[in-house]
Amino acid sequence: MKVGVIGCGTMGSGIAQIASTSSCAVKVYDVNAEALEKSKIKLDKILARLIEKGRIDLGEKNRIESNISYVNDLADLSDSDLVIEAIVENKDIKKKVFAELESLVSDNCILASNTSSLSITSIAAACKKPERFIGIHFFNPAPLMKLVEIIPAIQTSPDCTQRSLEIIQSWGKQTVLAKDTPGFIVNKVARPFYSEALRIFEEGITKQNPPEAFATIDWAMTELGGFRMGPSTLMDFIGNDINYTVTETVWKSFYYDPKYKPAFTQKRLSEAGYHGRKSGRGYYQYGENAVKAEANKDDCLGQEIVDRIIIMLINEAADTLHFNIASMEDIDKAMTTGVNYPKGLFKWADEIGIDECVSRMDTLYEYYHEDRYRCCPLLRDMSKK
Ligand code: NAI
Repeated sequence: MKVGVIGCGTMGSGIAQIASTSSCAVKVYDVNAEALEKSKIKLDKILARLIEKGRIDLGEKNRIESNISYVNDLADLSDSDLVIEAIVENKDIKKKVFAELESLVSDNCILASNTSSLSITSIAAACKKPERFIGIHFFNPAPLMKLVEIIPAIQTSPDCTQRSLEIIQSWGKQTVLAKDTPGFIVNKVARPFYSEALRIFEEGITKQNPPEAFATIDWAMTELGGFRMGPSTLMDFIGNDINYTVTETVWKSFYYDPKYKPAFTQKRLSEAGYHGRKSGRGYYQYGENAVKAEANKDDCLGQEIVDRIIIMLINEAADTLHFNIASMEDIDKAMTTGVNYPKGLFKWADEIGIDECVSRMDTLYEYYHEDRYRCCPLLRDMSKK
């Protein structure tokens, strides 16, 4: 199978590696010749490290590398069966690239975008044959993360969706189907993980100053909640600026639904250039002289924090099901394989008890009287059954 990849930054390079490992003939195109060279060198280093770790041998490294060619002309992708675009997150530029690409490839070629936040439908509209256009959303780092969200546009044909699912599954990935709505599954359902943690901080619930307050929330979510990383640690890892932009985009895209309103704390840190690990400072300080922030390991306080963030995540998962964005199975699969949640949110809801979930949401709403804390009607319906 012939696969074209457009854009070879973080995501395109990873996608090319996955496809070539699965024996596809991959052509990678980028407007920037330097980026092509960098991508080639990066792949060589990654594969050399895999040899060191004993995961692959030299023959496998050579095979993977020989499956990829780096091209300077979009027209070189003309014989592709599938083209995945991973260029800059700009709708107009993406539309322009697909309009040009469509005139080069065969009618059978699947055109896909790896966009995280743009409407698949709106990019498809730039194509003459939008029925063969689809969202194929990988997670970073693409070769390691098991999940891929498949997002048909409203124009996408069932055949294109089916073929896309089969191809991505044949690459060893777990797929979930998502409706073309902002954030798809993972970036929508995960919002409260960050925003409720920040709200808890802003309300001073831990009775500490930063960064100790962040450390307490992170401790609660990892030690008591079972998450691999706490919200502040994870935002610092992703990049606080990037995480802020995703939050703001989801909020605006849902017509300013107060549920998704970004926290000022995150905005201010982002404005200050405190982007996390990459800038040496975010919610925490990094580097040689950084002092570790000590958490208040009070179990009672910790459980209060965990319960509040988890119930908001469960409510968001229920909302995602309520609006038929994805199936219950796919929502749980997406959160466990896409962001490594310790368990699916519906499974969690069952363990807590649906009646108890509704009661916790109602308690929050009664206290705050904010739309942010409205209980999803589907969750309420589920509790009646
Ligand atoms: P990046 O900035 O690392 O790489 C983008 C590449 O596209 C650059 O090499 C650039 O030279 C190239 N490019 C820009 N305009 C081009 C054009 N007109 N034609 C050909 N090449 C062009 O970006 P990254 O992070 O890899 O993101 C790419 C896409 O993947 C975006 O749509 C982003 O939203 C999405 N995405 C990013 C994730 C991440 O964690 N970085 C996760 C999932 C999706």
